[in-house]
Amino acid sequence: MTASLEEVAYKLAAGGKGILAADESASTIKKRFDAIGVESTFDNRRDYREMLFRSEAMSQYISGVILFDETIRQNAKDGTPLVKLIEDAGSIPGIKVDLGAKPQPGCPGETITEGLDGLGERFKEYYDLGARFAKWRAVIDIGQHIPSYTSILANAQALARYAALAQAAGIVPIVEPEVLMDGDHDIDRCYDVTEWVLKEVFQQLFYGRVKLEGTVLKPNMVIAGKKSSKQASVAEVAEKTVRCLKNCVPTAIPSVAFLSGGQSDEEATAHLDAMIRAGGLPWNLTFSYGRALQAAPQKAWSGKTENIAAGQAAFTHRAKMNYLAALGQWTP
Ligand code: 13P
Repeated sequence: MTASLEEVAYKLAAGGKGILAADESASTIKKRFDAIGVESTFDNRRDYREMLFRSEAMSQYISGVILFDETIRQNAKDGTPLVKLIEDAGSIPGIKVDLGAKPQPGCPGETITEGLDGLGERFKEYYDLGARFAKWRAVIDIGQHIPSYTSILANAQALARYAALAQAAGIVPIVEPEVLMDGDHDIDRCYDVTEWVLKEVFQQLFYGRVKLEGTVLKPNMVIAGKKSSKQASVAEVAEKTVRCLKNCVPTAIPSVAFLSGGQSDEEATAHLDAMIRAGGLPWNLTFSYGRALQAAPQKAWSGKTENIAAGQAAFTHRAKMNYLAALGQWTP
């Protein structure tokens, strides 16, 4: 039986499991591989992702995996489709469908995410390839004069059009409006911008006739910019993030899965754990981490066959820590 949008959206954050964001574009995975001295070839990308998808973490801690277009079509070394490895572990394959954030005309320093043209057709193909959920990332940067309403509105409208197209194809949309933590702003500025962005996103999802029960939100945490001299405590990040979400995110949304956004592995885990421990949340909260799940296995693997077991152990460890955090049971 085919699972409904509601069932898939719920399952992605149920029971402490969370999402592995392994959807790095060709240029992003090259950056990650450069950092560990591995050439970014078709086979190396396959070997790396096969290592993750064959690890113990998958059946225990990972509800779904976001894939890049190349990966959803790729086979493991023995010819098994990578999608099948994910399904066999009881995890759900997903697909990144946006084509990246491009400079937005008239809005210096801001971007608009592209990829809507032909998306309905692409969704049909991705469904046939096994994808049951998708991701579209809008990027909002914080600076002295940004973000502008022009950019927030355009990005929110694109998210809504994407989400409606996904649902029409039987695919759960992950709606990701990422407010970056790259600047020198403090946590309260992040709160204000995140609140503004989320308010607009949910308004546009309403106008776009998107069914919230079949949607997953992937937000940033409310956190000080990396270059800020005023870093917030774990307790403050947890309190302000939950307060912001409660002010903006309808309870019809079943699942909220955070991005890690450049936080250290342990920070990303500690923040999630603190939010769950506080209790009283109307949605299931979990992780949808890229860097905070993969930095450790990338380092342990470093492109060497003899390091595959170490890479898998490192991935399983981080996934377990985040699983415990999503249950409010993590201890440092
Ligand atoms: P990070 O956890 O590295 O931010 O990646 C998550 C993601 O999917 C960003 O779009």
